[in-house]
Order: sequence, then C-alpha cells, then structure tokens
Amino acid sequence: MICLSRLNKIQGSGMTVNQPIGIFDSGIGGLTVAAAIGRLLPQEQLIYFGDTAHVPYGDKSVELIGSYAERITEFLLHEQKCKAIVIACNTASAAAYSLLRDRYKGSVPVINVIDPMIEAVIADDDIKSVGIIATKTTIASGTYQEKFSRRKPQLLFHPLATPLLASMIEEGFYNDNISSAVLEEYLSYEPFKSIDGLVLACTHYPLIKKEINHFFNQKLLFDSAEVVASKLKKILEAESLISLERKNTNRFYVSDFTQSFEHSTKIFFGKQVNLELMNLWK
Ligand code: DGL
Repeated sequence: MICLSRLNKIQGSGMTVNQPIGIFDSGIGGLTVAAAIGRLLPQEQLIYFGDTAHVPYGDKSVELIGSYAERITEFLLHEQKCKAIVIACNTASAAAYSLLRDRYKGSVPVINVIDPMIEAVIADDDIKSVGIIATKTTIASGTYQEKFSRRKPQLLFHPLATPLLASMIEEGFYNDNISSAVLEEYLSYEPFKSIDGLVLACTHYPLIKKEINHFFNQKLLFDSAEVVASKLKKILEAESLISLERKNTNRFYVSDFTQSFEHSTKIFFGKQVNLELMNLWK
C-alpha cells in the first residue's frame, strides 16, 4: 500500500509527485537526454526548453550562459512548477551548475549531465586512458579534467574541443560526407590513438555515435543520456518524488522556432514533437 504522505510531498520543499520534470538545453540536443528519461520514467510529465534563440552555447562566456540558465530555470520552476531540473547540456552544466545548485539547494533537485558521466567512466576499471570531446566552453572550463584528476588521479585523459560538431548536427548534417570529413579531422587527434574510451561530452553527440564508433571500433563510447536518466530516477526515489500515474502531456518549448528544428526533433527524441515558441527574453 502506498503511504498518502508519499503521494503528496517532498521532504521539506513543498514539491509533489505530480509536478513535471524540467529539462533544458541550448537547443534540441538535450532531447537525447529527455528521450532517455521518458523511456526510464514513462509516467513522468516532461517540460523541455530548448534555447534555440541562443544556440550554440559552446562558444559563449560562462557569465552569459549562466544568465540564460537562470532565466530558463525560473521559467521551469515558477511558471511550469517543475519538481526537478535537469541541465541536459554539458556546456550549461560546466558553466552554470554550481550557480543553480547553490541558489536552489534544499528546494529543488538540480541534476547536471557531467557528474553521472564522470561516475560511469571512473567505475570502469578497463578505462585507463580516456578522450573527451566537447564544445569549446566545456573544455575551457576544465570541469571534466578537474573532476577526473580529483576522483581518479591515475586516469589519463585527453580533452579536445570539437566546436563544429554541435552546429553541424543542429543543422542536420550527420551520417553524410560532411559529418564524416569533420569527424575524420577531429578524431585523428594523435592522443586519441591510445585511449580505451571516449566521453561524448555534449548532448548533441549521441546523434553521431554510430559514426564515431566507425572511427573508434572496439573503444567504449560514453554518452550522457542513459546515465543521467538513471541518476534522476535515483534522486526522485530518494526524495519520494516519483510520479505514480502515467501522464501524456509532455511539453516542448523553444525560444526561437524554425521548421528545421521541428523536423530534427524526431531524430533526437525518437518521435515527432510539437514545438511551442516561448520567448523568455522579450
Ligand atoms: N548540447 C550542448 C552540450 O551538451 C552543446 C551545444 C551548444 O554548443 O550549444 O554541451
């Protein structure tokens, strides 16, 4: 039997199980994370916000990304009444996670995509040397490098900024000659010859996982979608915030609407979704 108080509360914060989960990214790449959350927690209502007016985040300053992340989080918490926030973007996680965590500590769980990836890599004893590909801002932030050094000092890591990839994918170039040429250039990076695994440290990259695999046959590729979904599940369980009723009312907002974004959602989310325009910066 389910305890009534479990249905209606989160310890101390006023959040309830029936509130939605807020997920955001610079664009539509974070839909790869949203899709994994939808698969693992099908009863949850998801509110997705893609900041397509400001994509890509990967070449913007920490301060600017922080201000975007704060505004989006306010929207998800205050207007959409979300019970948890998932930063489905490595760049925003690197630039704004500590800001959001400190601001909302004790009131709402804020989950970033970097920590679950770090956990997955360091738990794998076969990985002695790992490559990291990500946007310029994620690599320049040193977040992965600092966490790997602190958590597993013997692990060798080789970060590489791959700035063309997110825009290339967002524009619909994957599984074609263009993506193949760009990947060939990036992945022939000399230090990658000796790695055992590669961290796809951008939520856009699962879309080109097969292509990357082609270059890195036999090497383990880590992407954030599944690990973040299971981290979220654990946190919701610990906070007694798991929804018990199935809802079919996911909402997908973007700060700038184009047909091409809507078309691409199918590839990122696994099915076509209806994008709603929501300009938070008017
Ligand atoms: N999807 C974002 C990430 O995980 C990056 C895309 C961008 O540059 O906006 O880092």
